[in-house]
Amino acid sequence: MYLPDGLKRRLAARADRSGRSEAELIREAIEGLVSRDHTDAATPATPPADGPVPGRLVGVGVGPGSADLMTVRAINALRRADRVIAPCTSAEAVGRAEMVVRQAAPDVVVERLVFVMAADHDARAEALNRVCDQVTTYLNAGDEVAFITLGDPNIYSTVSSVVAGVRARRPETVVETVAGIMAFQALAMAGDVVLTDEQQSLVLLPASAEGEVLDAELADETRTVILYKGGGRIPAVADRLESAGRIDEAVLGELMGMPGETVAPVSQVRDRPASYLSAVISPARIGLGPTPTPETSANGSAASGAATKKAPTKKPATKRKAVSSRKKASK
Ligand SMILES: C[S@@+](CC[C@H](N)C(=O)[O-])C[C@H]1O[C@@H](n2cnc3c(N)ncnc32)[C@H](O)[C@@H]1O
Repeated sequence: MYLPDGLKRRLAARADRSGRSEAELIREAIEGLVSRDHTDAATPATPPADGPVPGRLVGVGVGPGSADLMTVRAINALRRADRVIAPCTSAEAVGRAEMVVRQAAPDVVVERLVFVMAADHDARAEALNRVCDQVTTYLNAGDEVAFITLGDPNIYSTVSSVVAGVRARRPETVVETVAGIMAFQALAMAGDVVLTDEQQSLVLLPASAEGEVLDAELADETRTVILYKGGGRIPAVADRLESAGRIDEAVLGELMGMPGETVAPVSQVRDRPASYLSAVISPARIGLGPTPTPETSANGSAASGAATKKAPTKKPATKRKAVSSRKKASK
């Protein structure tokens, strides 16, 4: 079988890394192709498994923690890439994102690159530089590199820093991202929270935001407020929620999709320490009614741009009140 040199080289490297023979990898690729030809109409369409693009960097969101919340597209991107990189705090430590990949796609070989999360700015910058240098070396060698991240790669993710660093070194780099389900969506699901309805809106903020910024968002009762990175500040967050009259409906999700997952009303856990992987949802307290449409507006005023809003209606907030905790990650 004729294979172009570049493909031969990548095949050999992949076989080497995965410990499988080149013949096995070729057979698996052909099986994938043939089974796609027979995909029945009821099966969700699997995106075509295009080959890797040499020198492409793909930021892949692996979801909040459960293997079954990783998308088909994300798994395909990892299987397609020549190298899959995971951020970690030490070369021996399996990071959260890698744990998800190990469960969802055990055949994928994950390489760890060390980041520094400590407050020391210089140490962080140095580590990031080393990661960007390494990724750039792989891209220059013609590899497609997938960089995994918890949740979504475009939300508070190391992916954006790596992309910026790689682009500075290698401006021609083609960059793509694969969206991932976010922790707050998993929390809304587990905590029976409607995030927005009718004309409500939602905002996602770091819990470290200025107090006035948080208070202004919380003061708008039509707004659902989601707070990330608040694990170490739950007591302070709870105080702000209480002052805004929102404490009763606010819900905390810790380690979503992971061993030890906890979902609880903030009021019940306000004095407990929470992990860095914690998210808070304070649901909007009122809706403004549906946007009038030409069909629903009796006098057609919506069409003429003179729509009037319905009187605000109180919305039921979270249905769940008790603490729930899962001992192990979902299968
Ligand atoms: C650096 S940000 C990463 C966000 C990630 N890219 C995303 O889309 O979810 C880290 C914050 O995300 C939230 N988070 C991420 N995964 C989580 C999980 N499994 N459970 C609870 N919160 C999580 C927490 O608020 C945490 O402090």
